[in-house]
Amino acid sequence: MSKIVTITDNTSGKSVACPVYEGTHGEPVFDCQGVAKELGMFTYDPAFMTTASCKSAVTFIDGDKGILLHRGYPIEQLAEHSNYLEVCYLLLNGELPTAQQFEDFSYGIRRVSVLHESLLAFYNGFQQNAHPMAMLVGVVGGLSSYYHEEMDIYNPDHRMMCAMRLIGKMPTIAAKSFRYLLGRPHVYPQHQFSYVENFFNMMFWLPNREFEMNPIAVRALEIMLILHADHEQNASTSTVRLAGSSQANPYACIAAGIATLWGPAHGGANEAVVKMLKEIGKVENIPTFLENVKNKKARLMGFGHRVYKNFDPRATIIRKICHELLDELKAESHQPMFEIAMKLEEIALKEDYFIERKLYPNVDFYSGIILSALGIPTSMFTVMFAVARTAGWIAQWKEMVEDPSMKIGRPRQLYTGHANRNFIQIKDR
Ligand code: CMC
Repeated sequence: MSKIVTITDNTSGKSVACPVYEGTHGEPVFDCQGVAKELGMFTYDPAFMTTASCKSAVTFIDGDKGILLHRGYPIEQLAEHSNYLEVCYLLLNGELPTAQQFEDFSYGIRRVSVLHESLLAFYNGFQQNAHPMAMLVGVVGGLSSYYHEEMDIYNPDHRMMCAMRLIGKMPTIAAKSFRYLLGRPHVYPQHQFSYVENFFNMMFWLPNREFEMNPIAVRALEIMLILHADHEQNASTSTVRLAGSSQANPYACIAAGIATLWGPAHGGANEAVVKMLKEIGKVENIPTFLENVKNKKARLMGFGHRVYKNFDPRATIIRKICHELLDELKAESHQPMFEIAMKLEEIALKEDYFIERKLYPNVDFYSGIILSALGIPTSMFTVMFAVARTAGWIAQWKEMVEDPSMKIGRPRQLYTGHANRNFIQIKDR
């Protein structure tokens, strides 16, 4: 017998039967669509703490068990055996590619990775000290002014072309923003490099210096991208879906997602971790800092998660690569920061305050250290996150548009403003 949740209005005595749906994994949901019609009421759920806003087959998170799956594949296996571009293919298409499919996809991505020269001119309109996220929002939105002939969201070929253009161009746009900040010349993507090598090269190559593509550094960047590729219905992904539900073009939708990611409560945490570690300064200062955290005078950045209440599986993976990278780069200037992070983690995990509240290190606890060790300034951290998350955003957008039942998203509200009142002429106010 199928499960039903019955909601009864105690005043009118009216009831509504809400069918319960079971997903492949995770908590079941009850369908409250009949509530408004039958009871004449809406449901109230600020911050969507208990609302499933869509059906999705892309990513699954079990926050209590510390599980993250993309299309059913555990993040640990993807980080160990796959590469970012293959994860992009998986997110977009639902299956891992064959060797031929991967080659075709990589070739296609490389082909669209160059920016239109007139798009490069956009950058001259930004102040030299503009935040790179401001450039990213603007330039990605600006992609909407090209490719009109391939932007019909109801055409599957167009959808895939848009997805590939976004994934292909994002590192070029991000690297250009970085180089614009530093006043460095633009570097074009090159055919012989992999996706991540190209990104690395476009960020760091200089015409007048010897340039070494360190394989461990490239792998660390690759893992960073894989770990941030998608994360279910978070704020920026939900924004992309909501924007897309109005049938807006995908470039505009991704620009909306980037704007949401920019906020410190979402994409800005790794920047805050590095700032915190620098402020702590040395291992001896950790106990005082933790006392401040327990007294609510400070927050332990990089700890805690809205969904993961056991551990963040991405943190375990990134911790390892962080070690390897720092050893390889002999990045002595970052070693004290890493030592503080390790000690902080060790002490915090034993403290009742963190145990009782189920606060564990999240992915951002280590990602900031990796990015700093790679020579990426803190203002670029969220940009790096946005490059990675583009795959998830566009896969979720595509899934939504391909659902024949797609409707424009339109939440309701509990109105708390004035009741009717009469307009008063300005002279009488
Ligand atoms: N340091 C100290 N106390 C904390 C922390 C923290 N990092 N996180 C939560 N708490 C405490 C909080 O003060 C509250 O205590 P009490 O019960 O005494 O009032 C309790 O734990 C529950 O906190 P909450 O704010 O209700 O938890 P939440 O699920 O709403 O917040 C969070 C999640 C990520 C916003 C929060 O843990 C936080 O601010 N962490 C630091 C920032 C951070 O690292 N953000 C990155 C998240 S991962 C990004 C991603 O997945 O993309």
